[in-house]
Amino acid sequence: MAELTTQTDTLDWFRNTAPYINTHRGTTVIVGLRHGATTHHNFINVVHDLALMQSLGLRLVIVHEHQPMPLTPVPSEAMETLIASTLDARTQIERMFSMGLPNSPLHNARLRVISGNFVTARPVGVINGVDHGARGLVRHVDVGGITHALDGSSICLLSALGYSPAGELFALDALDVMRVVGRSIGADKLIIMSDFNGIEAADGSLYRQLTVDSARSEVLTATAAQRECIALACDACDAGIPRAHLISFQADGGLLKELYTHDGVGTMISPGEYEQLKPAEAHDLAGIIELIRPLQREGVLAERSNDQIERDLTHYTVVTKDSRVIACAALIKNNDSDIAEIASVATHPDYRDSGWGERLIERLVQDAKESNIRRVYVRTTQTGHWFQELGFKAVAETELPDIERQKAQHDRNSNILVRSLG
Ligand SMILES: CC(C)(COP(=O)(O)OP(=O)(O)OC[C@H]1O[C@@H](n2cnc3c(N)ncnc32)[C@H](O)[C@@H]1OP(=O)(O)O)[C@@H](O)C(=O)NCCC(=O)NCCS
Repeated sequence: MAELTTQTDTLDWFRNTAPYINTHRGTTVIVGLRHGATTHHNFINVVHDLALMQSLGLRLVIVHEHQPMPLTPVPSEAMETLIASTLDARTQIERMFSMGLPNSPLHNARLRVISGNFVTARPVGVINGVDHGARGLVRHVDVGGITHALDGSSICLLSALGYSPAGELFALDALDVMRVVGRSIGADKLIIMSDFNGIEAADGSLYRQLTVDSARSEVLTATAAQRECIALACDACDAGIPRAHLISFQADGGLLKELYTHDGVGTMISPGEYEQLKPAEAHDLAGIIELIRPLQREGVLAERSNDQIERDLTHYTVVTKDSRVIACAALIKNNDSDIAEIASVATHPDYRDSGWGERLIERLVQDAKESNIRRVYVRTTQTGHWFQELGFKAVAETELPDIERQKAQHDRNSNILVRSLG
């Protein structure tokens, strides 16, 4: 029995990842590995997770920070050692991506990692009379070169070194490389992996999600290292990257949990509010099916095939949170009468009692009025009282026009409730 439960849990977990897999497939993600990540004992798990993400269709650009960049000048004599140690770290990462370890996600995977002269630099120059030597700033990113590598299913690996057209090498701030490369290639996400879990509230609990404004207000209480990451994440969002995530490189499976589970593991920062009520789009289909399927199995919602939902997709309105569908409802009109059905009304159990159900119904009622529909109705087995509180009244099925009566699934024995839109 215990084994059965475990199998069911695993199956449920696997099924629940489907909406995230669909959402993230084809997206471009910058993964910023902060100082200490590549030498930490968990790094092999990070590599495995990156390999899995790549095989799930993410386009990955990895930027590794070999050592934090001081704000002081970098003498040209120091460059030889810096270049050698940076290239050594880069080679180590490439080596780990090349290991086809048995019993690991890398087994049988052929991962191609491309590093190169994708970042052009210019010297910082002289500031307040001090020559900053080989310290440089990102001048240009070879977007075409990176895109070409990603289009060819390679992982792009960038170090904090920049090449000048005059053939010199400059030491760059890795955070600056993450920022500029993310902006230049129009990344969908920036994930910064550091030695802390995310942004913590005053009581020590972790913020799972913050808007840019709220994240900036946390800067005052953050440590210096956290402050840099928060600033980078907020700048990235300001520059048009829709999401930035702060997670720890020490947690096994951190990347997978952050991307493929409901609440993630670190702190996600986004420009605005995360929950949105909007007409369904093609990429919401999997999320709608995921949401209503268990309710159909329980007999709470009427059976609708995937094909039927796909055909009716333009009639659905959804509430999404970070691209995940957390509530939905459909307004199914017919061409022959002025009554329309409200169907597939569902809110994910984690988000109930927050008013989303009511807001969805009111949005559909508004849409119906704009289409000159005079009445809407629902078929329900267990939610009659909820609809009554929203202005619906129970009626006999004979009050529905023939075209709507033919839709009935008689084995459900559902009640009909109608709301006049007067
Ligand atoms: C019904 C449902 C869509 C409501 O979603 P929601 O986002 O929680 O809705 P709201 O937040 O606007 O409303 C919540 C209120 O309705 C109440 N409510 C929920 N289900 C109810 C029911 N079956 N009967 C009576 N009241 C109900 C809640 O207790 C809550 O009351 P409160 O505000 O006094 O605390 C959601 O519970 C759900 O998905 N249920 C399963 C699917 C279903 O029954 N769909 C309708 C079939 S046609």
